[in-house]
Amino acid sequence: MRQLIEEALEARKQSYSPYSGFRVGAALECASGKIYRGCNIENAAYTPTNCAERTAFFAAISQGERDFCRIAIVGGKEGQMSRPNPCGVCLQVMAEFCDPETFEVVLAMGPEDYQVRKLGELLPYGFTKEVLS
Ligand code: THU
Repeated sequence: MRQLIEEALEARKQSYSPYSGFRVGAALECASGKIYRGCNIENAAYTPTNCAERTAFFAAISQGERDFCRIAIVGGKEGQMSRPNPCGVCLQVMAEFCDPETFEVVLAMGPEDYQVRKLGELLPYGFTKEVLS
């Protein structure tokens, strides 16, 4: 877990968050063994803002990845750490690709200080593609 959290901390360094000042980094571990990083990317028009988690997912998906094991997330204002839960939009993106019973969301304050939640705990009644079939 340590390496994944270190990658999320590195990703956070690229955060573009001039409006909120809240800097988030994510590192997504795929079944292939590869790790994809993401940071939050804000926008003057606010709504185009992309969270770190989605940036990591979209980077991985656009490289052909489809099987995911876990995502580590770190965030906080400059010089401090919080423990942000992923927003509902990011959870919905995770629900599209990940098994709610096995996919792990690692909420980290640092390499030694983290909590692990299953996706299904964070989004127990999400909208899924099964209802469309
Ligand atoms: N944000 C994330 O990147 N991930 C989260 O889990 C929650 C929020 C970003 C969006 C915005 O750039 C900033 O944090 C404040 O909401």
